[in-house]
Amino acid sequence: MSRLVVISNRVSKWKQGGAQGGLAVALNSALRQNNGLWFGWSGQRVETFTGHLDIEEHGGVRTATIDLDEQDVDEYYNGFANRTLWPLFHYRIDLAEYERSFGEGYERVNNRFADTVLPLIEPGDAVWVHDYHLIPLGYRLRKLGCNNKVGFFLHTPWPPTRLLVALPYHQRLVESLFAYDVVGFQTEEWLESFRHYCEKELGANIDGETISYGDLTLKAIACPIGLDHTEFLAASQSEDADKAHDKMRASLQDRKLIVGVDRLDYSKGLEERFNGLERFFTDNPEQQREVVMVQIAPPSRGEVESYQEIRAALDAQTGRINGAFAHVDWTPIRYANRGYPRVELAGIYRAAKAALVTPLRDGMNLVAKEFVVAQDPEDPGVLILSRFAGASLQLTEALLVNPYSAEELSDAISTALAMPLEERQRRWRAMMDVMEKTDVIWWREKFTQYLR
Ligand code: ADP
Ligand code: F6P
Repeated sequence: MSRLVVISNRVSKWKQGGAQGGLAVALNSALRQNNGLWFGWSGQRVETFTGHLDIEEHGGVRTATIDLDEQDVDEYYNGFANRTLWPLFHYRIDLAEYERSFGEGYERVNNRFADTVLPLIEPGDAVWVHDYHLIPLGYRLRKLGCNNKVGFFLHTPWPPTRLLVALPYHQRLVESLFAYDVVGFQTEEWLESFRHYCEKELGANIDGETISYGDLTLKAIACPIGLDHTEFLAASQSEDADKAHDKMRASLQDRKLIVGVDRLDYSKGLEERFNGLERFFTDNPEQQREVVMVQIAPPSRGEVESYQEIRAALDAQTGRINGAFAHVDWTPIRYANRGYPRVELAGIYRAAKAALVTPLRDGMNLVAKEFVVAQDPEDPGVLILSRFAGASLQLTEALLVNPYSAEELSDAISTALAMPLEERQRRWRAMMDVMEKTDVIWWREKFTQYLR
């Protein structure tokens, strides 16, 4: 079988064993069983870019990484990727910033990626490029003469045309996608938005999955990412998960646990979630002292101002809510800004009666899937899930909520905590059925079959 060469912005977090972010977690699993090569940024900065490749072997996966210089990180990663595209793709046009240097840095680093990875690509390899950081990479590979099959997968939402046109040079960005053979999205909804843009802004011709633009064609598909089901099930049944579960339960003193696990990102709806929780405690005073929310939120993209602002806002909000509601023997919100090993997360998920997974917009959301897999089938907890997460199109048996509405969140928490066992089991089984069929291997196979 031909090799799969995966290219994504970052490889390093996985190498350090602490991936926080759906892409890194999924690619780790997808590649481990495929004897592939994974190329990307090491996460390290150097004074001057050298293009030096650091090649290592980790559990059957070869990784090849490069360091970037300060200007690259500022303009490409902090700049165009995370100050321009991320907010725009998550419908936060109010937070999207554009500076010409960001666009220049974005193209420069995409070219650097392509120039460095090209010699590693062998004839017959299938090349799979990931996420919004690397949209123009395929175009550069083609210019350098690469004629392998090359595909692109977007882990985030694709924004509606009306929002995307606010981006200077939007057409240039979308045109570059036509260098790929296959372009994949997490859901039909994001795929529809992409097709709409191609038709209305580019005047492209659409015939089924094939989109033609001039003499270029691509196949655009929806291909939802899944969990490494077997790995996460094993993790959640491990001794370490049991230990984390027991430790968490002991600390609760018979109180009910609601859990949240998210990178500290404004798209995850944490302020709105805490507003919902505050409403719940206000509307249900008898539940005060009976329920504890544990929110795990490791800091992310801390050099970007909007992330510094959301962090400060959440510090203030959790402090205010805890100050207003706490008793000497009870604190409503335990808020931890740190990462945890996956086995520990699994044990914590299992200790919870409910999870709040309430992003304002999310390409997929793997935490929702992890929470369900980690549950005890005899006594499963309830998933409260935002209707604006890609996962809500698959996990239709979750309690689906509008994350902007504090009332809806409060009602969903009440419903979840009072849900009869039979209903919890029925909903859990239905969600597990979906996930067993569409795990990370299914995702990789579906995409690469299209590509090949
Ligand atoms: P995103 O890719 O936007 O971060 P996802 O929900 O798809 O969102 O993926 C997040 C991944 O990161 C999940 O696999 C989750 O378990 C992991 N993760 C999030 N927070 C932590 C944490 N504090 N410790 C360890 N892993 C985390
Ligand atoms: O899944 C979305 C995503 O942006 C991934 O591309 C990325 O690996 C993850 O979130 C974490 O973000 P970052 O690499 O910026 O910390």
